[in-house]
Amino acid sequence: KKTFRIVVLPGDGIGPEVVAEAVRVLETVSAASSDVELKLETYDFGGCAVDKYGIALTEETLQACQQADAILMGAIGGPKWGVNAKVRPEQGLLSLRKALGLYANIRPANFASESLLAHSPLKPAIAQGVNIIVVRELIGGAYFGTRKELGVSPDEDAAWDTMTYSVSEVQRITRVAAQIALAADPPLPIHSVDKANVLASSRLWRKVATETLQNEYPQLKLDHQLVDSASMIIVANPKKLNGVILTENLFGDILSDESSVIPGSLGLLPSASLAGAPSVANYAELTFKTTPGLYEPIHGSAPDIAGQGIANPIGTILSAAMLLRYSLGMDKPAKAIEEAVRKVLDSRDIGGEGLRTADLGGSHKTKDIGDKVVEILKATLMRWLVFWS
Ligand code: NAD
Ligand code: IPM
Ligand code: MN
Repeated sequence: KKTFRIVVLPGDGIGPEVVAEAVRVLETVSAASSDVELKLETYDFGGCAVDKYGIALTEETLQACQQADAILMGAIGGPKWGVNAKVRPEQGLLSLRKALGLYANIRPANFASESLLAHSPLKPAIAQGVNIIVVRELIGGAYFGTRKELGVSPDEDAAWDTMTYSVSEVQRITRVAAQIALAADPPLPIHSVDKANVLASSRLWRKVATETLQNEYPQLKLDHQLVDSASMIIVANPKKLNGVILTENLFGDILSDESSVIPGSLGLLPSASLAGAPSVANYAELTFKTTPGLYEPIHGSAPDIAGQGIANPIGTILSAAMLLRYSLGMDKPAKAIEEAVRKVLDSRDIGGEGLRTADLGGSHKTKDIGDKVVEILKATLMRWLVFWS
């Protein structure tokens, strides 16, 4: 039996609540598999680690992550460790991404079920068929450039952050966007988003993205959008951006939250943060097995609803599916999880109303969703076992 080590970082706020459901999903896959065992180990990370150890990312947690096959995270941060705190949980997340070299952040914003159309803030005719995958550069740009905080002396009146990109940083994220585009059939177009009419780093971005795609992936369609207009198109006519949005760290942070609400709720959307070069043997089964990937919903710790058991766990459950697909090469169970989620949301498949948490206007609890996903998944995996034996 092949054993995979998965480090679990529940974090703060609703993090532990949503992670608990995704953990049950992974345990279900592990229990049903005859050739793979998933070993899950939980570590402190984020605000809870700040409270215990004075720092968000301890050496122990970092080492466990470095030695893992993959990492499943909930969310970190909250008002208790606010923007003016000396030690902020968010610093820990940035350090972890940097230490693991997780330069590629994949954030798909598509409808997990057609039945979610009614929950989109956009008119159904505009939202229907939206299928955007944001590929966000994750360890460069303004997040990691030279920075100066406002000093304590009263005559200081400036603080700054610098947005820096190198040619090789843009090349590698462009290649990931290209592999993601090619994993779809037919291949997706790439929309590179920048602010090349103002920023030098964006002019480098546009040049390198264009050259990399022209030289290495001439079969892919590429266009360029300025970030202000792209953010307008996402709410006015998002299907125009169907395909892969390739963009830098800060723009990607903003545009991925913006796109995420089109399919109904921030709580629904997963993400993968990946390092190393993607394997290109078979685009349809794209994997990143060489270094541990980190998988988390795109939302935060949602302090306004934490502790009530009402958070939507679907973004985290779908992150577990991405984990199986990209880090463990287990595409089939990943698809089974996605299918189970669709059934849970889609009333037609389970008879009567689909399950909905409060963010989608329903009254189902976090655990109700987890229960139902596990039940449907178990049935699918059992069918496979019977079929195989
Ligand atoms: P947030 O994403 O935590 O919440 C925004 C809104 O969406 C809230 O109303 C919240 O209730 C709702 N929401 C989010 N996830 C939900 C879910 N699964 N189910 C139902 N509703 C959900 O953003 P915020 O309030 O701006 O940030 C709170 C904290 O989280 C901050 O400290 C921030 O830095 C941190 N944060 C962490 C991560 C991360 O860990 N990767 C990501 C974003 C924000
Ligand atoms: C995200 C979050 C993080 C980011 C914060 C918490 C550092 O907003 O994962 O999108 O800005 O990258
Ligand atoms: Mn964000």
